[in-house]
Amino acid sequence: MEIGAGPHGPGVLVIEPMGNAGRFLVEAAERLGVRLYAATHQDVHDGYPQWLRAALAGLCATDLTDTPRALRDMEAFCRQHAIAGVAPCFELFTPLAALLAERLGLPGNDPRLARAARNKVLMGEAFAAAGIPAPRWAVAHDGAEAHRVALEKELGWPLVVKPAEQGGSWGVSVVEGPDQLAEAVAAARQYTHAQPHGLELDARALIQEYVPGDEYSCDTVVADGVAYPLPVVAKDTTAGRYRIETGHTCPSGLPAPLVRKVQHIAARAALAVGVRNGIAHTEVKIPPDSDTPYVIETGARLPGDNLCEVVEAATGVSEAVAHLQAVLGLLPDTVPSRTDGASIRFLLPERGGVLRQAVIADLPGTHGEVHLRPGAVVPEPTDSMCRIGHVVARAETADAARGLAGRAAARSRVEVG
Ligand SMILES: Nc1ncnc2c1ncn2[C@@H]1O[C@H](COP(=O)(O)OP(=O)(O)OP(=O)(O)O)[C@@H](O)[C@H]1O
Ligand SMILES: [Mg+2]
Repeated sequence: MEIGAGPHGPGVLVIEPMGNAGRFLVEAAERLGVRLYAATHQDVHDGYPQWLRAALAGLCATDLTDTPRALRDMEAFCRQHAIAGVAPCFELFTPLAALLAERLGLPGNDPRLARAARNKVLMGEAFAAAGIPAPRWAVAHDGAEAHRVALEKELGWPLVVKPAEQGGSWGVSVVEGPDQLAEAVAAARQYTHAQPHGLELDARALIQEYVPGDEYSCDTVVADGVAYPLPVVAKDTTAGRYRIETGHTCPSGLPAPLVRKVQHIAARAALAVGVRNGIAHTEVKIPPDSDTPYVIETGARLPGDNLCEVVEAATGVSEAVAHLQAVLGLLPDTVPSRTDGASIRFLLPERGGVLRQAVIADLPGTHGEVHLRPGAVVPEPTDSMCRIGHVVARAETADAARGLAGRAAARSRVEVG
């Protein structure tokens, strides 16, 4: 196998490259000379943007919701195209990627643990078994059961209600008292299938102890079971009932010992959910006056939210390159080559409606993107679907980048009527 051999380099099958990380995988594949193939549904592929279709060396069209069929189709495809690595990308299919890698004898994650990286009930069990600091939790099917188990487990108030399987803060709410609990459980249980594939979800609700404090994320590349920590990133969210990510800044500004602690706990969380060859995205909160990071969740995938861009702008490390290297059984490049700062701010509406206009301010050192066109329906700000656009800033320090991104966001105009 030869890396850097242009279009004849090793082939990697990405299980569903749609979503934010896909574009970074495409760039990384170009840099490494990797041939990138996608496994998805034909109709989902038909809806890919042109740049993504053009970047792919081929398509394995299958039904990702039918595990035996998907494994059969993908195995035959991988053998036919001499695929050397399987890259999970879409969170809900990360267990499928682990099963496929094992079948093919390629580097991959532990299929016996992989469901814990998708399902927050199994994740809670895996964290408890590994002694990882995490909020206490219980499962509930309705409001009455939620009341009972919250009391039994002494979860206290506020508490957090969320779907067992979902992302993007969909169905997640912070509940201040018993009155709102039944409604929150119903909201968390509304997702029975994930679109666009129609994958059936575990529709149970999880109720969790609320962890106060600041929030951070930290990604971990794992190669042959060895964890390589990536930089810690500070995360901002809305306050109140719905916690929507409003921005990320790298580096985090945490003191060095705490950075190492976050990296250590994130690596343990990744290993606990069976990540052995690939990447994991871990989110933690650190309560005030504490130096213990509590893991909110970990996913066996690249981060979303343009975090690949933010981390690379600040440190020179390409998470997508490292991910491809890990799934190919190579040593990942994770050593920072610069010490700058980068920050992303998302433009959120105050309420849902129709987007009248969105103009991003053009400040030196920043660039932005509008996600929706005028006339588009903007959902109520209850999850990340409401975000209208974003601004990325790069500067010499994280504080300067955060300030610059904040100024660009403040000067941008978003009108929703
Ligand atoms: N136990 C908790 N204590 C405090 N805050 C929490 C807790 N669980 C979730 N949150 C808040 O809600 C946000 C979304 O929750 P979570 O990450 O579990 O859901 P998600 O849908 O997987 O999110 P995403 O895909 O947006 O990262 C978290 O980033 C955090 O701000
Ligand atoms: Mg999360």
